[in-house]
Amino acid sequence: MKKLMSILIMILVFAFMITGCENNSEVHAAASDISNNFILTMQINNSVMTVNGVQKEIDEGKGTTPVIVNSRTLVPIRAIIEAMEGKILWEQNTQKITIELSDKIIELIIGSNIAYVNDEQKELDTAPEIINGRTLLPIRFISENLGYNVDWNANEQIITIENTSIALSEEAALNNQLEETGKTIVVYFSNTGTTEKAANYISEELNADIFKIKAVEPYTSEDLNYSNSSSRANIEQNDTNARPEIENKIENIEQFDVVYLGYPIWWGQAPKIMSTFLESYDFSGKTIIPFCTSHSSGIGSSDTNLHSFTDNAQWISGKRFGGEVSKNEVKEWLEAIKKNIN
Ligand SMILES: Cc1cc2nc3c(=O)[nH]c(=O)nc-3n(C[C@H](O)[C@H](O)[C@H](O)COP(=O)(O)O)c2cc1C
Repeated sequence: MKKLMSILIMILVFAFMITGCENNSEVHAAASDISNNFILTMQINNSVMTVNGVQKEIDEGKGTTPVIVNSRTLVPIRAIIEAMEGKILWEQNTQKITIELSDKIIELIIGSNIAYVNDEQKELDTAPEIINGRTLLPIRFISENLGYNVDWNANEQIITIENTSIALSEEAALNNQLEETGKTIVVYFSNTGTTEKAANYISEELNADIFKIKAVEPYTSEDLNYSNSSSRANIEQNDTNARPEIENKIENIEQFDVVYLGYPIWWGQAPKIMSTFLESYDFSGKTIIPFCTSHSSGIGSSDTNLHSFTDNAQWISGKRFGGEVSKNEVKEWLEAIKKNIN
């Protein structure tokens, strides 16, 4: 009898260890829509993640960290899905993990490269694994299939997961404004053409006006040399009061309700000339949709840090594009914005 009891206890402990949750039970019962303004960052070999600015252990009390397997990041998923307000089911006998969030259901099996997203079969390049008794799952695959953006900063080995959904309170305003054509302008700052490329795609796709912010003193390649700590761009980025002057002006900003605002990432933030731009006009009642381009950094706080330069504007979560930004990628983002407001 005693032996039977200890076997039973061992089985229970093992089930707990590998799933971090009870057998066949729901970790989080409240499935809901993707939370708005969600931003989660985590780093390879770091057991702490940040969710909307708050630090939390990725795998409470276990010290488990994200790891790279076959160039893909695997992590214990439970706390992440909880933060997204989704739920997880674990089936011990089939070793199946089911993740549910909003209208999405993702099914994965330990050791299998086949997953299902709403019953559609998809191939994983890295299968879920149990490492040191913890279940580790491919975070990019799961997050993207739940409708989140995933960015990878290779230098700092940081993964950023952000949602693209738009706060409900913003919906009505956007709905009205985006319906009306000819009321949208794409404004951008670009020196080496990457942000310009994205801006042109947006303008073409939406048939919107376009405006390039031009500095009174154009940036030379030496000004943009960010390995030189005393280059103009670096000095400006380190100076909160820097406001590089703008040469040109939007004469009739009143007629625009929606402003797509594009910039390159400079040291994780928008260039200071974007502050000059935002302080130059009255954006009350207008909707601003930021986008940026970078080598590898995510949009991070660069978009939200611009909010304080406007009064009574409606800001939407921004989008980051890489150097290889394509028309299709831009189109998908614009469609996601539209879908989120309908
Ligand atoms: C001063 C400076 C700082 C930069 N900082 C970052 C950075 O923090 N992260 C990053 O991924 N790229 C960084 N970049 C690269 C640019 O974000 C990237 O090349 C961008 O797409 C350039 O846009 P543009 O061609 O429209 O000017 C930096 C570039 C410059 C000039």
